[in-house]
Amino acid sequence: MRSRGEKDEHLFRDSSIGLMRLLFVLILFVIGIIIGLISSSHIDRYFTSQPPNFYMNSYISAAPAPSHSYSYKKDSSYDHNDQNCSTESAMCKNQDCLSMESFRMPKNLTHKMTDKELFWRASLVPDKPEYPFRRVPKVAFMFLTRGPLPFRLLWERFFRGQDVNKYSIYVHSNPGVELVFPNSSVFYGRRIPSQDVRWGTVTLVDAERRLLGNALLDFSNERFVLLSESCIPVYNFPTVYKYLIGSTHSFLQSYDDPSRYGRGRYSRRMKPDIKLPDWRKGSQWFEIQRTLAIKIVSDTRYYNIFRWYCLPSCYPDEHYLPTFVNMFHGTLNANRTITYVDWSLGGPHPASFQAENITENLIHHIRNNGTTCSYNGETTSVCFLFARKFKPNALAPLLRLPSTLLGF
Ligand SMILES: *[C@@H]1O[C@H](CO)[C@@H](O)[C@H](O)[C@H]1NC(C)=O
Ligand SMILES: *[C@@H]1O[C@H](CO)[C@@H](O)[C@H](O)[C@H]1NC(C)=O
Ligand SMILES: *[C@@H]1O[C@H](CO)[C@@H](O)[C@H](O)[C@H]1NC(C)=O
Ligand SMILES: *[C@@H]1O[C@H](CO)[C@@H](O)[C@H](O)[C@H]1NC(C)=O
Ligand SMILES: *[C@@H]1O[C@H](CO)[C@@H](O)[C@H](O)[C@H]1NC(C)=O
Ligand SMILES: *[C@@H]1O[C@H](CO)[C@@H](O)[C@H](O)[C@H]1NC(C)=O
Repeated sequence: MRSRGEKDEHLFRDSSIGLMRLLFVLILFVIGIIIGLISSSHIDRYFTSQPPNFYMNSYISAAPAPSHSYSYKKDSSYDHNDQNCSTESAMCKNQDCLSMESFRMPKNLTHKMTDKELFWRASLVPDKPEYPFRRVPKVAFMFLTRGPLPFRLLWERFFRGQDVNKYSIYVHSNPGVELVFPNSSVFYGRRIPSQDVRWGTVTLVDAERRLLGNALLDFSNERFVLLSESCIPVYNFPTVYKYLIGSTHSFLQSYDDPSRYGRGRYSRRMKPDIKLPDWRKGSQWFEIQRTLAIKIVSDTRYYNIFRWYCLPSCYPDEHYLPTFVNMFHGTLNANRTITYVDWSLGGPHPASFQAENITENLIHHIRNNGTTCSYNGETTSVCFLFARKFKPNALAPLLRLPSTLLGF
C-alpha cells in the first residue's frame, strides 16, 4: 500500500511538472501577444500619418514577439488605416466624445443626475474670463407648474420670431402630470427631470433649485426668471430682455415683516447661524442673475437649517431665499419683485384675474399703477414685467387684446 502511494506521488509530481511547463509556455505566448498588441496600438497612435513600411520596421526592431502575433498586428493596423476617423466620429454620435457643443449648452434636458450631482455640476464657474465662443447672454424662463400650462399660447406669441440665442425655457412639473407639447412649440422637450412638489414645504425650494441647476448648465444663461402657470408677460420680449440683461441687480423680494406672518415664523433653533434681525420674507417669484443663482445652488448649510426648522406655518419658499440673500448677497439685490400681484382685496390670498377682469386698462394699471421703483440707481415707472394669478379662462380675452397694446 505504501509503495503504491509513493508511486502515485511520483506520477503526480511528473504530471505536475509537465503541467507547469505547459503553463509557462502558455504565459510566454500570452505575454508575447500582449506586447505585440500594446506596441501596435502605440505605433498606430503616433505614426498613423507615416507610410505602413515605417511602422512595420520599427515594430520589428522594437518588439521581438512571435511572428503570428506580428501578422495579426499588421492586419489590424491596415483596418485602422482604412477606416481613418470614420469609426471614431460614428462613436461620438452615440457617446458624445467631450463635445464643446453639449458642454456649454446641453440640448437634451434628460439626465440621470441626482440633485446633489446636478448642484455640484451647476456650481462650476470658469476661471478664464473670456469664452471660446460668442456668448450672447440669455434669459432663462423657468416654469414651475403643477399641471399643464394654460397660457402656453400667449407665451408662444411672446416668443414668436425672437432670437433663439437670447432665451431658453425650462419646465418643472409634478412627475404624474403628462405634458404634451407639439414639436413646433417653444416648450417642446424643455421639461427637466422633476420631482413631486408639495406646496408650503421645502420641496418647493427643491424644485426652484432644480430649475436653477438645470438652467445653469447652459453657460449662456445670464438671468433666471421663475414663473408659474398662472403668470403672464405684460411687456414684449425685447423690452423684457433689455430690462433684465441691463440690470445690475437681481429682483428677489426681501423685506422685514415684523408681524406674526414674518418674524413670527422665525425659529430660535436657527440660532446662531440665523438671527432674528437676519430674517426676511418675500414672494417666491424671483428674477436673479447668474452669480446669485450659482450661490443658491451651492448653499447647503442654510438650506438645511430651513429644511429642519422652517416647518408648517413657516413657509420655506417665502423665507429661505429672502433671508439667505439678505445675509450674504444683499448688495446684488434690488429687494423687489418684477412679478405683479394684487393684494388690494385683503385676506391671505392675492386676487385672481378672471376672463371678465381682462381689459386694456388692467394691463395699463399693471404696467404703471402710480408707484415708481429704482432701476440701476435711477427712478422708473416700469416696475413689473410679469403678472400673476390669472385663471385659465383669461386666456381667450388676453389673446384678443390688441397686439399694439402688449407689443406681441
Ligand atoms: C476616410 O475613409 C473613407 C472611406 O473609408 C474615405 O471616403 C474618406 O475620404 C477618408 N477620409 C480621409 C480624411 O482620409
Ligand atoms: C434625450 O435623452 C434620452 C435618454 O438620455 C432619450 O430617451 C431621449 O429620446 C432624448 N431626447 C431627444 C429629443 O433626443
Ligand atoms: C413634428 O410632428 C409632425 C406630426 O405631428 C411630423 O410630421 C413632423 O415630422 C415632426 N417634425 C419634427 C421636426 O420632428
Ligand atoms: C437690498 O437690501 C440689502 C440688504 O439686504 C442692501 O444691502 C441693498 O443695498 C438693498 N438694495 C437696494 C437696491 O437698495
Ligand atoms: C374681477 O371681476 C369681478 C366681477 O366684475 C369682480 O368682482 C372682481 O373684484 C374682479 N377682480 C379683480 C382682481 O379686479
Ligand atoms: C401698485 O402695486 C403695488 C404692488 O402690487 C402695490 O404695493 C401698490 O400699493 C400699488 N399702488 C397703487 C397706487 O395702487
